[in-house]
Order: sequence, then C-alpha cells, then structure tokens
Amino acid sequence: MAAASTVVSKVFTKDELCALERAPAPCGIVIFGASGDLAHRKLFPALFSLVLDHLMPKDFYVIGVGRTSLTDVAFQSGVRQALGTVGTAEERAEFISHLTYLSGEYHLEATYAALGKRLAGLDEVHQTHGCHIFYLATPPALYEVIVGLLGSSGLAAARSSRACTRLVVEKPFGHDLSSARDLNVAIRRVFQEDQIYRIDHYLGKETVQNILMFRFANAIYEPVWNEKYIDHVQITAAESDGVEHRAGYYEQAGVLRDMFQNHLLQLLCLVAMEPPASFDADAVRNEKSKVMTAVSFPSADRLGQDVIRGQYGAGEIEREAAPAYRNEPGVHPNSFTETFAALRMEIDNWRWHGVPFYLRSGKRLPKRVTEIAVQFRRVPTSIFKSLVVEELSPNVLHFRIQPNEGISLRLEAKHPGPKVCLSSVTMHFDYTEAFGVTPPEAYARLFLDVMLGDQTLFARQDWLEHSWKLLDPLLQYEKDVQETGLRSYPAGSWGPPEADALLAREGRQWLTR
Ligand code: NDP
Ligand code: BG6
Repeated sequence: MAAASTVVSKVFTKDELCALERAPAPCGIVIFGASGDLAHRKLFPALFSLVLDHLMPKDFYVIGVGRTSLTDVAFQSGVRQALGTVGTAEERAEFISHLTYLSGEYHLEATYAALGKRLAGLDEVHQTHGCHIFYLATPPALYEVIVGLLGSSGLAAARSSRACTRLVVEKPFGHDLSSARDLNVAIRRVFQEDQIYRIDHYLGKETVQNILMFRFANAIYEPVWNEKYIDHVQITAAESDGVEHRAGYYEQAGVLRDMFQNHLLQLLCLVAMEPPASFDADAVRNEKSKVMTAVSFPSADRLGQDVIRGQYGAGEIEREAAPAYRNEPGVHPNSFTETFAALRMEIDNWRWHGVPFYLRSGKRLPKRVTEIAVQFRRVPTSIFKSLVVEELSPNVLHFRIQPNEGISLRLEAKHPGPKVCLSSVTMHFDYTEAFGVTPPEAYARLFLDVMLGDQTLFARQDWLEHSWKLLDPLLQYEKDVQETGLRSYPAGSWGPPEADALLAREGRQWLTR
C-alpha cells in the first residue's frame, strides 16, 4: 500500500496572514534620475520606510545614476535630508550606507560600462546573485535611450536568472497611443513582459487596494452593484497645489494626460470591474482591461458638452494668494494647457448600462481630496410623503482615498422625537482609527511588489493602450478648440461653473466639496 502523503499544510488565520513578512531576495536597485524630485520626495523615503518595517531584503544596495556630478558623500547627504527626521539617526545612517552614486550621461555607452563594473563589484559584496532592478525616474523622453543601452551593454540580461532582473517605468508611459506603442516596442526588444513594471502610484495606495477587498470580500454589495441600484458614480481627484516646479513637464501634459489617462481611469476600473477569478496579477488585470473595452467616452458630437476643461487664474487658497497658472515659473504666458477637467462617460455593458460616471480632477482647487462617491437610486416611492416635505436623500457610499482615508455610507434615519422627521446620517469607517496606523506610502508597497515579482498593482500594456485610445480623440479635440474650449477658474474654487452645470443639467451635483 502506498504511504500516506506527508505534506503538511499550515492553515493561517487572517491575522497571521497579514503579519507574515514577505521577504524579497537580495538585490541591487539602480535609479536613473536619482538627483531628481521624485527620487528624493518619494523613492528614497519609500525604500527607507521598507527598511524600518523590516521588509527590505537581508541585503541590498542602491546605485543612483544622474548627469549631475556628485560624490557618494554629497549624494548620501542629499538623501539624508530627504528622509527628514523619520527613524533614528542610526537607522538613517545604516540605510544611507547602502547608497552610492554614479554620474554619467544617459546616452553614452561609457555610463553603462561603468555601471556594469559597479554592479559586479557590489553584487559580490551584497550576495545579490545578479538580481537587479532598473528604475526609470528621468524625464520620459530618456526612457528609450536608457533601455536601449541597458540592452546593448548586456546589463538587462541578468547574470543569473532573467526573472530577477526587472524594469520599473515611471509614468507617463507615452504621450498618446502611438508613442505609448513605440515605447513599448523599444522596451520589449530588451525586456520580457513579466520583467516590466509600469508604475501608477495610485494603485499602491492602501485605500485604492481596499476597493477590491470591499467589493469582493463582502457579500452584501455585489447584488446592488449595478445599474438597477446605482444612479451614478463620481470620481474626484482634487489638489490644492499648483503646478509647482514641474511646468516643463506639465505644459506638455495637462490634467487629462497627467491624471485621467492613468490614476482616474484606474480608479474607475476598480469600481466597475467584474469579480476576477482570483487575486492574481493576470486575473485582476484581465478584468480591468475588459472594463476599458466597454468604456464609452463622449463621442465627437458630445465633446463640447461632456468634457469641460479649465485653467486656474489668480485666486486664494486657505487665505493665501495663489498666482494664475500663466504666471507660474516656466509656464508660457499664453499657455492653453488645462489644469482642470471634468467629464461624463458611460460603461456600455450589462452591469453599468445607462449609469453615468463623472470624473473630475484639477490643480489649485480648494483642498486636496481624492474620493469616489457611488450614489444609489432613490427609493421607488416614499411612504413618508405625507409627513416629510422634502424628497428623501439617496444613499451614497464614499470611498475616501485621501486624506482621512476611510469609507462612509450616507443613510436616512429618524430624527429623535415624537414627530416623524428624517435626517441624513453617516456610518463611517476610518482607516487610522480602525487599524491604529496611518496608511503606508504607495511607493513603498510598489517597491516591495517589484522586489517580490508581483505585477498585480502595475499597469499592463493592453490597459495603457486602451486608455490612450480613449484619450486621443479628447486630446485632438482639445488641440482643435484650445482657446475657445478652455474656461478660466479662480484658484481656490471647484473649477469653472460649467463643471457644475455638467451634473446640474441631469439633476445632480458634485458630492465632494
Ligand atoms: P526631474 O525633472 O526632477 O528629473 C529627474 C532627473 O532627471 C533630474 O534630477 C536630472 O538628473 C535628470 N534630467 C532632468 N531633465 C533632464 C534632461 N532634459 N535631460 C537629461 N536628464 C534630465 O523629474 P521628476 O523627478 O519630477 O520625475 C521623474 C519621472 O517621474 C518623470 O517621468 C515624471 O513624469 C515621473 N513622475 C514624477 C512625479 C513627481 O512628483 N515628481 C510624480 C509622478 C511621476 P541629472 O541632471 O542629474 O541627470
Ligand atoms: C502625479 C501627477 O502622478 O500624481 C501629479 O503627475 C499629481 O501632478 C500627483 O500631483 C498626485 O498624486 P497624489 O498621490 O499626491 O494624489
């Protein structure tokens, strides 16, 4: 008789699973554009936070690459400043000891020859077995050049296993459909799809990931998550900051490319997608791509009514004067770049047929808030008609992405007292209160996933191409009507009045204020 199987499988409780440390294998991280804004504001602090949470590999090193001539000491001191007062001085010093800097021009073979030597030396010391992560954090125009030279210099071909050499590409991935395709072709000449991590940092936000848990780990929402019960959906990503020092990039991008093509459409997909078969990178990304095929952006004859574009003029935010966009450093005095957009769109499938989705994003709005509001239909008829003068308010589910991360549900309830009076009340889940921690930085989670080889939270090329296909006609229209189609709004307001009219004409209003 065959011996019984001796495989022992441990069944973890949910809490044990959450506490499990995911330990990536030792690796070398190369950041191109390491002297830049993103690297200092987000990437180094994210790596350091992983160190503090004991989530970095047992051993690792980071090589910053840039044209700026810097010694290791000067580079390390810049990073130390960027870390501020997080952690102890010893913890910061220990982290910084893993960092070195290589200065060189991105288009010269010599830079990659020097990088190859540096990698080989550090691999020996840190026992990384040739596992390398190349992170592109330069202006996007340089991506093709860098990837090409990583290929021709042999650095892209890992010395041990291909699987542990990875490429991280910062957004924007292209500036229209054709450039996104070209960039992909250039990258795919050198890297395989499973080595490529196209960043959309919104996907790394804890509250964004929570949309899937909320929808698919609770049985009560799925039956009402469709056109029968949902009246419409609003997605708002508002920023109080202006363009700051990024005019060089933003002048060419505008809010449609900067926020809609990636972050807002990703949020839309998470709200609208069908349940995937599993929480596996491909299963999740397949469902998101399916939503994109059903998205129906305003058709050519509706663009004028359903797409509102604006640019901020001078104004005031939190009692501080804010300059007009055209007076910001680096902005052309006659710029037609849009800093605000609102649009109405639909998803033409069985679940969502006829449900409007309103998307809105802008800079220099009154406050920083990203929120998804799902408004349910009103009750079919009110039994309180004779007692309550006003119409009953519909239920609204708010996913608060940031700040004050959480989820709330607006309900109608009886006001205390002998009379029949109804009020709207809110049931609220506050992330920090419930878990006793503030949500971790998106970039930390994304770095960890790259090291672990998990692509679930990264954009796939087919998704990106869908998003550009949707956006290209809008961008063309924008070019055609650049002057007449652009409305001005004072900094500190919620965008041009036409954005309110977009909803008002259908008897609705923006719920995030
Ligand atoms: P920066 O403008 O700060 O550029 C990064 C580095 O690239 C610079 O330090 C510089 O390093 C090098 N560089 C800049 N301009 C040129 C040039 N014309 N030719 C060659 N090298 C140049 O960019 P960010 O750090 O803001 O952004 C990097 C990437 O990340 C971009 O693709 C951006 O779109 C994306 N991103 C940025 C965000 C942010 O908040 N900053 C948010 C989301 C995405 P050196 O001169 O030393 O070579
Ligand atoms: C970036 C955009 O992708 O996202 C910026 O390029 C924008 O313009 C930023 O400010 C917003 O990110 P967050 O995480 O602050 O909402």
